[in-house]
Amino acid sequence: MAKILVTGGTGYIGSHTVVELLKSNHEVVIADNLINSSIDVLDGIEKICGKRPDFVKIDLADSKAARDLFSTHKDLDAVIHFAALKAVGESVNHPLKYYRNNIFSLINVIEGITKQGISHLIFSSSCTVYGLPDRLPVTESTPVKSANSPYGNTKQIAEEILSESCSVNKNINCISLRYFNPVGAHESALIGELPLGVPNNLLPFITQTAAGLREQLSVFGDDYDTPDGTGVRDYIHVVDLAHAHMAALDRLIAQNNDTNYEVYNVGTGNGHSVMEVIQSFEKVSGVELSYKKVARREGDIAAIYADTSFAEQKLGWKAKLNLDAMTSSAWKWEQSLRSKKG
Ligand code: NAD
Ligand code: UD1
Repeated sequence: MAKILVTGGTGYIGSHTVVELLKSNHEVVIADNLINSSIDVLDGIEKICGKRPDFVKIDLADSKAARDLFSTHKDLDAVIHFAALKAVGESVNHPLKYYRNNIFSLINVIEGITKQGISHLIFSSSCTVYGLPDRLPVTESTPVKSANSPYGNTKQIAEEILSESCSVNKNINCISLRYFNPVGAHESALIGELPLGVPNNLLPFITQTAAGLREQLSVFGDDYDTPDGTGVRDYIHVVDLAHAHMAALDRLIAQNNDTNYEVYNVGTGNGHSVMEVIQSFEKVSGVELSYKKVARREGDIAAIYADTSFAEQKLGWKAKLNLDAMTSSAWKWEQSLRSKKG
């Protein structure tokens, strides 16, 4: 049993990871400023696990507050750093807000673990670092392309900061996980994604349309060089993604890592088109979705999916849940949200 600080732990991916940590009998402290999540998430976690994690409301970009957090939690074994702002469009209009929040928070976390002698760190990176890849599937050595948004740039800069910090400080052992497209929700439908306002991402837009909150889904582009012309992504169930964090944590704690900075792709290895996601959703929900094909969305790429063999080999982790499990759990979660809101 270890004591883990989970930054951004009331958020979408963080909350699912906290559930898996508690189920494995780890002790969890969540640090979050609730800028994109709700304190009620703790109730959902408690209902699933029968345990409530400790919670500290804190802005991690505030260096004094972060120093206080680390000096009052001296006995931590590891940090999983999810806390970040993630809205790509907003980052284009407010770049400094994104650099300040995402980069300052990371620096404060690295300084905190260094000062307290905490050696294990897991960081949330993204497949966005690959930009438009020349070849598919992408491996961890596929070149990182220049970012097409300040949000994407914060992930690239963060990876550089981590790599350079690890190269000068051999006491830090860090794993960056490059998530592909996380979707779905916990099977209990007690926790899930809570998009603010109109969702940008495909699956929340589909479930909100089916629930009657949105009139129609726009399918962005049907003339891509893909089997059915619509965009292809590597969707990964958020519970599989949470398990990847457990595998990374186990590797760090067991000191099985080959170098003190490792990077892994976390996807399923399967690409699914927008039309395949719609078909899966219609099948599992029994709802006929209103959609229309429209022009491409600016900045979108045709296709990306992961080569996951490195994670399989080194972390002993592989995604298990298929697209139908992703769409059905997302629909169950949307319905539970609607029933709560009446
Ligand atoms: P989320 O917004 O649901 O969770 C992030 C949490 O961090 C929120 O609870 C928010 O309140 C908190 N937070 C943000 N800034 C903070 C700060 N300065 N101090 C304290 N708390 C702060 O997002 P998510 O989807 O769970 O994403 C988690 C991580 O994974 C992020 O780093 C994100 O960039 C990364 N990621 C997400 C996706 C995705 O599609 N969801 C894909 C790739 C990478
Ligand atoms: C988004 C983020 C990216 C992040 C990734 C992983 C943007 C611009 N990019 O990318 O930084 O790393 O998630 O979570 O937000 N689609 C529609 N109609 C919609 C919404 C989406 O057709 O209303 C299509 C898109 O064109 C794309 C696919 O669905 O082909 C997935 O889109 P989305 O869920 O937004 O994810 P990404 O574009 O992969």
